[in-house]
Amino acid sequence: MNILILGSGGREHTFAHQLSKSDNCDKLFVAPGNAGTAKIATNVALSVTDFEAVKQLVLKENIEMMVVGPEDPLVQGIVDFFNRDEELKKVAVVGPSKRGALLEGSKERAKEFMGMYKIPTAAYESFKAESLAAGKEFLTTLKPPYVLKADGLAAGKGVLILDSLEEAQKELENMLTNNKFGAAGNTVVIEEFLDGIELSVFVLTDGKDYKILPTAKDYKRIGEGDKGLNTGGMGAISPVPFADKDFMKKVEERIVKPTINGLKAEDIDYKGFVFIGLIKVGEEPYVIEYNVRMGDPETEVVLPRIESDLVEVFQKVAAGALNEVELEVKKEAAATLVLVSGGYPEAYEKGKVISGLENIEDSIVFHAGTAEKDGKVVTSGGRVLAITSFGEDYKEAIKKSYQNADKLHFDKMYFRKDIGFDL
Ligand code: AMP
Ligand code: GLY
Repeated sequence: MNILILGSGGREHTFAHQLSKSDNCDKLFVAPGNAGTAKIATNVALSVTDFEAVKQLVLKENIEMMVVGPEDPLVQGIVDFFNRDEELKKVAVVGPSKRGALLEGSKERAKEFMGMYKIPTAAYESFKAESLAAGKEFLTTLKPPYVLKADGLAAGKGVLILDSLEEAQKELENMLTNNKFGAAGNTVVIEEFLDGIELSVFVLTDGKDYKILPTAKDYKRIGEGDKGLNTGGMGAISPVPFADKDFMKKVEERIVKPTINGLKAEDIDYKGFVFIGLIKVGEEPYVIEYNVRMGDPETEVVLPRIESDLVEVFQKVAAGALNEVELEVKKEAAATLVLVSGGYPEAYEKGKVISGLENIEDSIVFHAGTAEKDGKVVTSGGRVLAITSFGEDYKEAIKKSYQNADKLHFDKMYFRKDIGFDL
């Protein structure tokens, strides 16, 4: 069948890499894609939230399956758009409906959902401009650090963790009345701070049954030792050594099952990924957030460990027959290292020529922010490449990624040298 992947990052290149291996994949399209996807698929320049343009592409190229990478089109309702359209509704789409996507699109909704189904998460209250005074008062009842979350999508920047009460009260005011995060901050969730170690659990569901995918841990801060500004992710490993059998049993019983049961109870059409951001406090799992898509760069370590034919798996998801799937997972560990443009996550330059790609050995290089220019591969984003490797354990895997990073070059290239340091 012909398949379309929406998105342009390392996550989408990884999807393309895995799907293109399947005998069931005929023509593969990525929209808009990057220089990496251009090597194994046909890139189509369009905006992933321009549903009409996506429709025209699907009809023109006889696309029978679509995998949605990023959250924006999901939160804006691309799945509902497909289901409502006579010509599109037969396309097998991997991604939740708009009501499902609200678990990522609204933090308040996610907290209410967790409350409803007794899923462990930090205690919270939410506030609007009218209740600013009550919000400031609520902060005085909490211990520092203070966690403030803009309700809506804010490109991963909507969470503030602040040490002083005065600062927290000022930022709450900035969000609620000074439009700090635009409309995303019209409602703010204030949460209890949880002290623990984070990990990501990915669940694939057809809305009735589910498969828990390999666990992963990403490294979000720009600096070594997890210091400095938040980024999209500087590296990841899979599996997570501290997510042992006992812990994962708790995750499945207390979090995954009630989440899927909640979706069922509310009759939510959900055929796609649930990305559960978890924190392990002592031995207990708590949910930090839901995302309704795969993580990036977690995808770069999770998907390459899956040995089952991904096209077949996705067909089952779309057909509501996930119970017929047996997922096969590689025993080997995987690690990925993200190479970024100097300056990222603040201002950085683009258009730098990337060299050394032909010298990579024993790793897979997934492209994130790259483009082709005059026959050369150049940088076009903050996160540029993700180097994924396998090994007996994550240490052996990340070592290979570091060896290969030394063979790559672009002006002002930067990467963290401590992926896995805290394990
Ligand atoms: P989120 O966008 O909800 O994933 O939050 C971004 C980051 O803020 C998370 O990855 C955590 O590191 C941190 N965080 C969010 N909520 C809490 C919390 N209640 N306690 C401690 N850290 C948190
Ligand atoms: N790596 C975190 C995310 O994709 O949201």
